[in-house]
Amino acid sequence: MADFLTLIHPAIAIAVVFPLIGIVINFAWQTRQRRLQADRNQKIPPNVGKEHVQIGKKLTGAVVGISILGLAHPTFDAAIKNRAFSQQPGETVFLILMFAATIASLVFLYKSQPRWWRAIFTLLTSLGILVIGFQDLILQRQQAWIYRRDAEWYYSHFYYGIAVTLLMIVSLAIIPEIYRDRSHRWRTIHVVLNCLALLLFIGQGMTGTRDLLEIPLSWQKSYVEQLYIQNCQTQPCDVVAKPIGNK
Ligand code: HEM
Ligand code: HEM
Repeated sequence: MADFLTLIHPAIAIAVVFPLIGIVINFAWQTRQRRLQADRNQKIPPNVGKEHVQIGKKLTGAVVGISILGLAHPTFDAAIKNRAFSQQPGETVFLILMFAATIASLVFLYKSQPRWWRAIFTLLTSLGILVIGFQDLILQRQQAWIYRRDAEWYYSHFYYGIAVTLLMIVSLAIIPEIYRDRSHRWRTIHVVLNCLALLLFIGQGMTGTRDLLEIPLSWQKSYVEQLYIQNCQTQPCDVVAKPIGNK
């Protein structure tokens, strides 16, 4: 069961999120080609822009959802193991409320039109993700329940994942600006930010599969931890394979 729960997030990422990314990028390319009239035979249908935005909106929901799932599993797994529900009920309620508030802010962001409301809900959704991700610092907990790979942030699944999630939230928030702005400045900002998002998505594929390799199966866990402790006694710990997070 524990192994199955670990697999839900990667399985949804591969089966749902990555196919959506492919569709969004295909439409993005066509939207640009059509707008720049690079399509000499006029084969690209006029609604590709609309299709790109429609699937793009779904992609934002899927990416925020998959990140929340990736953050929720280690959080509640550790909460159950540490009996946090009975020992630190205040903290547990705070965390549950943070997850609920983040999802609610995203729903409101989808619904709001005025610029200020979009700015406020963008901020709240992003803040929610950050507070959940850095919960141990905010709650001044000794142990981090979410494995952030702080020392190696430049290839951390957590930091890439949070960055790409924030980029998707911003993409959703600035849709009216892209359409309103005749100078195409917002369009250019969107394209630059989302080219970066694309690189981060590729990074998520690579760092995610690596992390999956590092998490031992439940029946192997105690042996792997034992090996780690033994290895640390004979050589510096940073040159031996580390068991990931609190797994
Ligand atoms: C990997 C993700 C994405 C990439 C690489 C991407 C890239 C692009 C590109 C190249 C264009 C055409 C720009 C041009 O006309 O020069 C575009 C347009 C646009 N994108 Fe995206 N995009 C992505 C995700 C999203 C998401 C998630 C949303 C919204 C939630 C979104 C909303 C828009 C909008 C509103 C336009 C203008 C469409 C039109 O002209 O009808 N994009 N995007
Ligand atoms: C759009 C793509 C993805 C996003 C935005 C994303 C985001 C996240 C986030 C924010 C976390 C929590 C922080 C952490 O533990 O590192 C996480 C955890 C994790 N991700 Fe992903 N991820 C994505 C794709 C993948 C893929 C493709 C795989 C593997 C094939 C994967 C494997 C994992 C694993 C093993 C964990 C630890 C989860 C756990 O403890 O249950 N992720 N992901």
